Amino acid sequence: MLIVLFGPPGAGKGTQAEPIADRLGVPKVATGDVLRAAVRDGSPRGLEAKAAMDRGDLVPDDVILAIMEETLARPSAARGAILDGVVRTVPQAEGLSAMLGRLGRRLDAVLTFEVPDEELVRRLSGRTVCEKCQTPYTSREPGTECPRCGGQLVRRRDDEPEAVRNRLAVYHRQTAPVLEWYRKNGTRIVSIDAMGTPDEVTRRALKAIGRP
Ligand code: AP5
Repeated sequence: MLIVLFGPPGAGKGTQAEPIADRLGVPKVATGDVLRAAVRDGSPRGLEAKAAMDRGDLVPDDVILAIMEETLARPSAARGAILDGVVRTVPQAEGLSAMLGRLGRRLDAVLTFEVPDEELVRRLSGRTVCEKCQTPYTSREPGTECPRCGGQLVRRRDDEPEAVRNRLAVYHRQTAPVLEWYRKNGTRIVSIDAMGTPDEVTRRALKAIGRP
């Protein structure tokens, strides 16, 4: 199955990508994680993306589409993938659709995670992430150890209040219209109530795609 996880910053896309991918037996791809790794490595792609990411702006569409082209070419993605945060503009949706058409593939669904803005701000202001495995946490201090892999937990620069405000504005202005594009395009859109515990949200998402 090829599924896009869609929703505002803090909706839980990163939290849900792994359990859903594990259940379906396909890899997960998060453009945010790929870009942060490029920034850490100091690669040309990372240098191009860093300033926009720190401000909470989107990186250019051609950078995202290049990441998708590389991802879909991997043998591990032949049976499908969970695409976390991959499609954030209409040109990205168009580019991905054209790419899939050339490969004779199509999206099975767009899962859109619904969370009120005030809960998003609450989640992001308390988040730390593991520098190594990228797992997000809600109530663990920066500088402590990741319980999963022993990496160090850090605060993301774009979780500072000003960048969070900008990310939410960018989401409403540039990303939310993508859903309308998918609707017109006939892609299956599944709305998931993403309040409640992460396990509850995973169960709702799997049930909604017929894989409880
Ligand atoms: P990215 O890393 O994708 O950030 P984002 O979309 O802003 O999403 P987040 O990672 O902030 O939130 P999430 O929905 O994954 O929530 P999470 O599971 O962590 O992108 C970063 C930047 O990269 C972008 O701003 C942009 O610059 C660039 N970029 C990436 N993709 C791009 C693209 N396609 N086009 C252009 N630019 C792109 O959860 C948040 C917190 O809530 C965590 O602490 C978590 O533990 C907690 N939580 C999760 N679920 C629950 C729950 N059910 N109850 C309580 N707490 C919960």
